[in-house]
Amino acid sequence: MDLKIVRENAREKLKGYCRVCTVCDGRACAGEVPGMGGAGTGSSFMANLEALAYYRLNMRTIHAVKEADLSFELWGGKLSMPILAAPMTGTPYNLGGPMSEADFIEEIVTGSLMAGTFSMTGDGADPSMYESGLKSGAAHKKTTIAIIKPREQKEIIKYIRRAEEAGVLAVGMDIDGAGLVTMAMKGQPVSPKTLKEVMEVIALTTLPFVLKGIMTPDEAELAVQAKAAGIVVSNHGGRVLDFAPGAAEVLPAIAERVRGKLTIFADGGVRTGADVLKLLALGADAVLVGRPLAIGAVGGGREGVSLMLNKMKGELFQTMLLTGTPDVRHVQADILFEEI
Ligand SMILES: Cc1cc2nc3c(=O)[nH]c(=O)nc-3n(C[C@H](O)[C@H](O)[C@H](O)COP(=O)(O)O)c2cc1C
Repeated sequence: MDLKIVRENAREKLKGYCRVCTVCDGRACAGEVPGMGGAGTGSSFMANLEALAYYRLNMRTIHAVKEADLSFELWGGKLSMPILAAPMTGTPYNLGGPMSEADFIEEIVTGSLMAGTFSMTGDGADPSMYESGLKSGAAHKKTTIAIIKPREQKEIIKYIRRAEEAGVLAVGMDIDGAGLVTMAMKGQPVSPKTLKEVMEVIALTTLPFVLKGIMTPDEAELAVQAKAAGIVVSNHGGRVLDFAPGAAEVLPAIAERVRGKLTIFADGGVRTGADVLKLLALGADAVLVGRPLAIGAVGGGREGVSLMLNKMKGELFQTMLLTGTPDVRHVQADILFEEI
């Protein structure tokens, strides 16, 4: 199997939901939520790609970096690269049901492990979707991070306890899911949270806690205050708020405020290893990849997922050599070209 076949298979199986475009940039699928697109005009999805494309890389080849170290440690787990699978749920309404929710997430988690890395699993409009993620979490202990929707406090408590029992590496909340139409449509109440509520939730568990959907330095500071172990700088793949900036646009200011105080993940529009290195140079510790892995899972199962991740890993390695970057934990901002 190769990526061309994976993509052709996926295009066939995702008909009506995802066109598997040459570049997955949110243009063709603007407004398709539920579906694979971005909300409204699709501007937030597109902004993720545009923000990354804005940056160029300085090429440097007179140096001693002949090998690049991609390894990354996360809360005691050893990863082959700082690239994780983003949480994705809703195969019936987002992908048109080419496979069951449980099979989908299992292919993502297993494919990521084949490539040496971990996955986040999500929470959707049907509570069984969260359970599917936990099932994979239980089968592959300490390698998944269960991301819970900003449900009612008493519900979140139950969801955290079930994740702990399953044996996940960490838990978290996609707090930007506060206005998701797919949740509202299915009568699952979600809402923004006060700082007090966020603190209450984080204090409930000894597991590392990730707040996903942080887009401003002030909220990143609140995450530190609430003792989150990590944040995901993310506009939810452009699926929740139209006219949000791209993650790469807001990341530098956020990193300046909170770098070193918690783990900074970033996602949105990561399609190549060069995109990964750009986000690391802008202040992320690691990145998440969404839609390309959904395409990999549908088109080629776990092998498709691992092919997608390994392609990015190879590109990241090449890009590190050609920018003189010895390891992913010390990526210099000056690998980015700035016009003077
Ligand atoms: C079909 C689909 C389902 C998603 N479901 C979830 C979810 O359940 N929880 C969550 O935190 N994010 C969810 N997301 C957002 C992703 O985790 C991630 O932030 C986004 O897809 C990254 O952008 P990219 O797809 O351009 O890589 C979903 C995204 C897609 C495309």
